[in-house]
Amino acid sequence: MKRRDVLQGAAVLGASTAIGLPHIWRKDANLARAANGEIKVGVLFSLTGTTAIIEESLHKATILAIEEINAAGGINGMQIVPVEEDPASDPATFAEKARKLVLGDRCVSVFGSYTSASRKAVLPVFEKRNNLYWYPTLYEGRECSKNVVYTGAVPNQQQDEFVPWLIQNFGTRFYLIGSNYIYPKEENNYCRKLLARYGAEVVNEEYVPLGHSEFSSVINKIRSTEPNVIFSTVVGDSVVALHRQYRAAGLDPEKMPMASLTTSENEIAAMGGDAAAGHFTSAPYFMVHQSPENERFVAAYRARWGDDKVTHFVSEPSYFQVYLFKQAVEKLAPSDISPPTVAEAVKGEELTAPQGQIRLERENLHCWLWPKIARARSDGQFEVLKDSAEWVAPVPYAAYPDQVCSENGLQQS
Ligand code: ACM
Repeated sequence: MKRRDVLQGAAVLGASTAIGLPHIWRKDANLARAANGEIKVGVLFSLTGTTAIIEESLHKATILAIEEINAAGGINGMQIVPVEEDPASDPATFAEKARKLVLGDRCVSVFGSYTSASRKAVLPVFEKRNNLYWYPTLYEGRECSKNVVYTGAVPNQQQDEFVPWLIQNFGTRFYLIGSNYIYPKEENNYCRKLLARYGAEVVNEEYVPLGHSEFSSVINKIRSTEPNVIFSTVVGDSVVALHRQYRAAGLDPEKMPMASLTTSENEIAAMGGDAAAGHFTSAPYFMVHQSPENERFVAAYRARWGDDKVTHFVSEPSYFQVYLFKQAVEKLAPSDISPPTVAEAVKGEELTAPQGQIRLERENLHCWLWPKIARARSDGQFEVLKDSAEWVAPVPYAAYPDQVCSENGLQQS
């Protein structure tokens, strides 16, 4: 072997190999581990900026679960230590804070993100360092990472029942309005496929910038196109502005409702119940859901954060995913707790969440969930009109039937 070949080989394997240390040592040294009776985890939700309106509640639900677990003795006697960062609703700041939590604080997992833009921004950090990100938000699917646990709904779990139900009850003309980034575009791509399947049509598809608050031209177009349903994937503060301006314009939810995948009790608390009343949301959880687990969750959340606070379909997975983490870590010896061992241990885990029994699908690390259709009431809560008879499997590539996410990665047929 020539000297140049040896040097090139060393460069590929990394500097530690070049000075004689085995490759396995270098890889292992990069992994975060539990130590000194503590399990460090990152908590990465925006407390400022345009999506703080919802992310603040995800932060609160995560902290509540951590505090409950610690108060009950921790995990196998070890306390969970949260390291909290505010990424300010900015994807670049998300990536910077994720690097700090993984490399600087050496957290064994990080709980975080509302928008898919922020999840996409942190993904390379978790994949490169073989760490684990726990993502509680409904999202567009089309992702297959062994470094993310996805506990929110994917499009088939929000739309498969909802879209035909809307067509049946209101008609075939849909106006698609979303914030301008990957999540609304992929949700609408799936919606278009369902509309075509049921003989319905799109009268307009439109995107507004994140944080957009002036909807008069959108409302004018809605008036002139006369849809039966306004299908909304607008997020953050814009949800509040859209609903208020719809109402101020004198539009009638009885005749032309908004059907949203992103409007929860949380945004309704910000806009006021009157602005939301009569509009529809599909999601696996609503605060009014009746179960002993939900009664406990709502009571604990309000006792910790205030009697005026609401729970919703993203704060609920933010809460139960910490318990999934606990179940996985419980199976491991303290010296074995690292991101890849936790990722392996959580596969196939089930628990009774506030929404019902959920399972983390081992093939794709997404959750089996309980979709529901509900109408907003003027008191800020929802009336559930339709509950799924069975839990629904996650199909993250539902819009791309030639692709399947499996334990061996993305399979293409
Ligand atoms: C989202 O961006 N996944 C709501």
